Amino acid sequence: MTDKTRSVSAINEGTVIDHIPADSLFDVLSILKLDELENQITFGTNLKSERYGKKAIIKLEGKFFEDDEINRIALVAPEAKLNIIRDYEVAEKKVVGLPDEIHGIAKCMNPKCVTNHQNISTRFRVKDKKLVTLKCHYCEKITDKKHLEIL
Ligand code: CTP
Ligand code: ZN
Repeated sequence: MTDKTRSVSAINEGTVIDHIPADSLFDVLSILKLDELENQITFGTNLKSERYGKKAIIKLEGKFFEDDEINRIALVAPEAKLNIIRDYEVAEKKVVGLPDEIHGIAKCMNPKCVTNHQNISTRFRVKDKKLVTLKCHYCEKITDKKHLEIL
C-alpha cells in the first residue's frame, strides 16, 4: 500500500479478500454465506483500483477459510486475492482457483433440468476453469459465465 491511509481499517487476525470486482461483491458475500457469520466484517466497495477500475474489499476479523470454501469465489471473482493476517501483518497471500466440481452455489441454466423442478441441489463439473463453463451432472447441459446465476 503506497498511500498513508487505508479505505477500510486494518484488522488484527483474519482474512482480507481484496481485488474483488465491485459488481461481484454481493455474489461473494452470498457464496461465502457471510450473512450467517458472527465475526466482525468490514467491507468497502467502488474503491479505486489501478488494475480493475472499481474494486471491493472484505475484511473478516478472526475468520480463516478452508481452501475449498474460498475457491468457490473463483466462480464470480477469479481475480480476487486473499491475505491471511496475523498480528496485524500479512502472513500469507493466496490466489483463488476453481475446483473440479461445484456442488450447489450455481443454478443450471437449462429450464428443463431436474434441479430446476425438484428439490435436488445442483452439481457441476468444471469444464473450463478460465472461461468458467460448468457441465451439469444431471442434464449435461453447459452453463457458461454469461448465464451464471448464483443461488
Ligand atoms: N490489510 C489489513 N489489515 C492488516 C494488514 C493488511 O486489512 N493488518 C489489508 C490491506 O489493506 C490490503 C491487504 O490486506 O488491502 C493486503 O495488504 P498488503 O499486502 O500490505 O497490500 P498491497 O501491497 O496493496 O497488496 P496487493 O497489491 O498484493 O493487494
Ligand atoms: Zn442441469
